[in-house]
Amino acid sequence: AKDMGTDLEEILISEDEMQARLSELAAQIDKDYQGKRPIVVGVLKGAVMVVADLLRKMHTETLMDWMAVSSYGSGTKSSGVVRILKDLDSDIQGRDVLIIEDIIDSGLTLSWLVTNLKARGAASVQIAAALRKKEAMKADLDVRYVGFDIPNKFVVGYGLDFAERYRNLPFVATLAPHVYQ
Ligand code: PRP
Ligand code: MN
Ligand code: MG
Repeated sequence: AKDMGTDLEEILISEDEMQARLSELAAQIDKDYQGKRPIVVGVLKGAVMVVADLLRKMHTETLMDWMAVSSYGSGTKSSGVVRILKDLDSDIQGRDVLIIEDIIDSGLTLSWLVTNLKARGAASVQIAAALRKKEAMKADLDVRYVGFDIPNKFVVGYGLDFAERYRNLPFVATLAPHVYQ
């Protein structure tokens, strides 16, 4: 098992809790997509762990694709303007699309992505996210599958990074303030 070290404060979601919840979501997704062959769009890099674990728990036949996006400006996510760093390999016209994210924070990345993918003629676009911050902007974001609603704290692990670190932790933990202050 990976050590908590001194940089992490508290485990919010253990590896077992995450895996158990993903199993529930996988069953729900299988039910909803019966007879369909959705294109799963993982949002790099954070969603790598969720895509890998969720798809292995699902029985639905999927096509796995990836996008990498970045907010315009210097770390200002609030703009909501997104730049595509890596686009999909597949044509999603007429296809059912399931976007997979590690976390919904402001929701601006996903808001933009949903609009973008719908504009390509997807038959449907749904969202599955392992985590959602309670204060997340949900107004115009309809999230079909959510693992856990979490408090508005700096969290790392299970794909989530702080300056590219901690992504490989199998659990979700809060970062000790001394690390980012
Ligand atoms: C993080 C996270 C989501 C997004 C959520 O990605 O993985 O994709 O931010 O933020 P929002 O809801 O406020 O838009 P990040 O841009 O850090 O890239 P990464 O996945 O490569 O870490
Ligand atoms: Mn991300
Ligand atoms: Mg990040």
